[in-house]
Parts: sequence; structure tokens; C-alpha cells
Amino acid sequence: MDTPLHFAGISGSLRKGSYNTMLLKAAAELLPENTTMDILPIEDLPLYNADHDLPAAQARPEIVQGFMDAIGKADALVIASPEYNYSIPGGLKNAIDWASRGEHSPLLRKPVALMGATPGMWGTVRMQLAFQAVFLFLDMKAVLKPEILIADAAKKFDASGRLLDEKAKELISHKLQNLRELVLAGKLQYH
Ligand SMILES: Cc1cc2nc3c(=O)[nH]c(=O)nc-3n(C[C@H](O)[C@H](O)[C@H](O)COP(=O)(O)O)c2cc1C
Repeated sequence: MDTPLHFAGISGSLRKGSYNTMLLKAAAELLPENTTMDILPIEDLPLYNADHDLPAAQARPEIVQGFMDAIGKADALVIASPEYNYSIPGGLKNAIDWASRGEHSPLLRKPVALMGATPGMWGTVRMQLAFQAVFLFLDMKAVLKPEILIADAAKKFDASGRLLDEKAKELISHKLQNLRELVLAGKLQYH
């Protein structure tokens, strides 16, 4: 189908030389046809505080509302994240926590593809498992296969941050295609 779709990408790492931001940028170059992707920054979101959220506050902080609106406009999310202490990095979890609130949370039932890179050996598998609980609570539609677990990341990207691993690129393309198909199947079902 030639329906244009738009994905929103989020990196779980805030540092400049992040392998996961490189991975997300590699994904942006491997999108299926008729699919675009923006990367949404999360580094300036304040820490979640219910006093600054609805209904306690009259409006959410502008930056938070903008982040939530951008997720709402996207057909699907692509998240590339490291694993911190066997789990989801705090900055990313904070962003998810803000976006998860309210009966109109833009994360509810949102299709999502998760991937991760680490210089370590286990490819972020524990972070990805921890995310399954978040997907379950928010009824997010995770594309589970193929899994993108980039281990030994220092050897997988060149000095300019380009992904060198051809097998990984193939898997990422496949996963993004599956994400597109999941979105389109949902549109057929619900619209
Ligand atoms: C607080 C912290 C906890 C970490 N915990 C893990 C971990 O549990 N598993 C792992 O493979 N790497 C762990 N690392 C190493 C990260 O994988 C590594 O710093 C990686 O480069 C971060 O991703 P980035 O390159 O996208 O910033 C940890 C790093 C930090 C800063």
C-alpha cells in the first residue's frame, strides 16, 4: 500500500556520541517506502511531577505537551536505547512516564519498534525485556521480531557514526517494514 506514514524516533541516550542515537539515525535511513521519521528530543523534559501535570496543574509544561503532541501525530514510535543497570535509562523512562498520563495518552495502543545497542555482550536484552512491562500496561503494539540487539557496538559503527554491520541493517529494515505493516493493519481494522 502507498499510504504515507510517519514514525517518531526516540533515543534513550542523551550523550553526543551515543551508539543508540547512531542506531536511530541508521534506522531513519532504512525506512520503508512512503515512511518518514523525526527524532524527538527528550533531554530537556523536566522530571515527572504530578503537581505539574493535569489535573493538578491547568496545563502541562509546554515542552511536555509538545512532546506528547508529536507522539500523538506519529503513526508509530521507534525507540533505540541503551540498557542502564539491566533496565530502561531514567531519562527515557521519564519521557515515557510523562507521555503515558491521561485517558488520551498518545502512547495508548501505539505501535512501537524497540532496538538497542551496547558496547557490552548482551545487546540490551534486559532493557528490552523491561520495556515489555511498559508496553503491556499501555497496551502498546510492539513489533517483537526481528529483535535488534547490537552487541559490541564500538566495532559496529564507523568514526562518523554510520552503521557498518550489513546483517544488522537487514534486520532493522525488516523490523521497520513489520512496523509499517502493523500500522496499516490497524488502520484497516479500526478506521
Ligand atoms: C548508568 C549506566 C548503567 C549501565 N548499565 C549497563 C547495563 O546494565 N548493561 C549494558 O550492557 N551496559 C550498561 N552500561 C553501558 C552502556 O551500554 C554504554 O554506556 C553505552 O554506550 C550507552 O549507550 P549510548 O552509547 O547510546 O550512550 C551502563 C552505562 C551507564 C552510564
